[in-house]
Amino acid sequence: MGMVQFLGHSAFYLEGTGIRAFIDPFLSGNPQAPDKASELEPNFIFLTHAHDDHLGGTISIAKKTGAVVVATNELAMYLQSKGLEVVGMHVGGRRRFDFGSVKLTPAFHGSGVFEEGVLVCSDTPCGFLIEIDGKKIYHAGDTGLTVEMTLLEEENVELALLPIGGHYTMDIWDAARAAGFIKPQKVVPMHYNTFPPIETDPSEFKRLLDGKVDVVILKPGETMDF
Ligand code: NI
Ligand code: MN
Repeated sequence: MGMVQFLGHSAFYLEGTGIRAFIDPFLSGNPQAPDKASELEPNFIFLTHAHDDHLGGTISIAKKTGAVVVATNELAMYLQSKGLEVVGMHVGGRRRFDFGSVKLTPAFHGSGVFEEGVLVCSDTPCGFLIEIDGKKIYHAGDTGLTVEMTLLEEENVELALLPIGGHYTMDIWDAARAAGFIKPQKVVPMHYNTFPPIETDPSEFKRLLDGKVDVVILKPGETMDF
C-alpha cells in the first residue's frame, strides 16, 4: 500500500515499495508547507515544470539526498547542468522504473527558467501518471482543462491530484469536468489558497462532484493511503 502526503500548493510526498518521492517540492517560500517536509529524504523528484512554485527547492534537495529528478527533457538537461542526476522524458512517453512506471501527460501551461532576467531554459510543462504498487496516481501539474484528459479514463486512475485555483489553471468548475473525464477513485484538490489570485473554496469543488467522484480535501501535512 502507498501513502501520499499533501505539502501545500502542488507539492506532495509519495511513499510506496521502492519509492520515496516529492512532486513539485515548493517548500521554502510556500506558506502552506509543513516544517518537517524539509527533513524527508526522497529518492525521486517529479517536476511538472520550472515555475518557481513547482521547481521550488529541487536543486538543493536533490544535491542533499541524491534524488533522481524526472522531468521533460529540456528541464532535465538544465538540471543536469546544475549537477543533478536526471531522467529526461517527454509528453506521452511511459517507462518502467524499479518501483513501477511513469508516463508524462499533456498540460496546457507555460514554463521556463530565467537567470538574471534571461531565459536560459524553455521547457514543456507536463503532468505525471505514476504507478506505485500497482496503483496509478495522476498529478495534473499546472494546466487548463484539456480533452486529452478523457484518455486517462482507460488508465483506471486511483487518485487524481487536480489544480482548482483558477487564474493560472483550471478553476473548480473546470476541475470538476476534468474529474468527470478521468473518473478516478478519488480526487485531491491542489494549487489553491496559497496566494490571493488562486483563492477558492475546495468544499464547493467537493459539492460539485457529490455522488460522482470522492473528493478528499487534505490540509497541508495530512496524509492518505492509496
Ligand atoms: Ni506554473
Ligand atoms: Mn503553479
